[in-house]
Amino acid sequence: MTDHVTARETRLTSGATVVVAGNYDEMSILAAGIVARHIAEHPGTAITLPTGETPRGMYEALTGMIRGGELDFGTIEFFCLDDYLGKGINDETSLTAWLDKAFLTPAGVHGPNIHFVPTLADDPDAAAKAYEASIEALGGFQLAVLGLGPNGHIGFNEPGASIDSRTRVVDLTDESRTQNAAYYDSDQAIPDKAMTIGIGTLLNSPRIVLIVCGSSKAGILRDALQGPVTAEVPGSYLQTVGERLVVITDPEAASELVLD
Ligand code: F6R
Repeated sequence: MTDHVTARETRLTSGATVVVAGNYDEMSILAAGIVARHIAEHPGTAITLPTGETPRGMYEALTGMIRGGELDFGTIEFFCLDDYLGKGINDETSLTAWLDKAFLTPAGVHGPNIHFVPTLADDPDAAAKAYEASIEALGGFQLAVLGLGPNGHIGFNEPGASIDSRTRVVDLTDESRTQNAAYYDSDQAIPDKAMTIGIGTLLNSPRIVLIVCGSSKAGILRDALQGPVTAEVPGSYLQTVGERLVVITDPEAASELVLD
């Protein structure tokens, strides 16, 4: 990865900062830098980070810092953001298994401070409430890093989700299931239900970082940041948090934004 950062920073009318990195690697390094600084400055606090293609580089950078002794991930409480109902870390098509392979195992950060979405619970609704309660007990998230789905979802808060939603079981859209099936060399079906941390839980965080890359996200990123605030684009709720939001993109994802 390059460490030559050529990012351009702009303030949106919503108060959010948009940082357009020179390329994917710079986006990843910038995002990892925010996470690392946060962990160093706010030990003991709760954070959540996403899975997916977008954060691969961020996890690679974080893994390098942890293995190099620059970052101690054991000092924060990390909560996985979402996963499929009925799939856990031992299921290769779960998001938790993805995270384990891409980050937890290479970085060696297993431990009681790593909290998995309780998708295997006998009573998923009660387990979702308990997951939410354990986040609240720590004072809520002090940092939430999010990706943006092609349909505007954040976490697995799909179109139609309410702004004050909490951790719960949700129905997945066919679009999200198709998107995620593409991650795996597997013919296993992607479930039609998931458990996700809610939008209200995420928006309460004093620092929210949205990372987005690739030209396929340009239109939905514009809708999320500069379109109307609507349940049809859950990412648009991020406009309501003002300057607590930092968006880090590559040039392709930012190509349809109107920036001064
Ligand atoms: C994953 C998650 C999703 C993804 C989004 C973008 O934990 O919460 O909201 O962030 O679907 O996924 P990628 O990065 O694969 O395009």
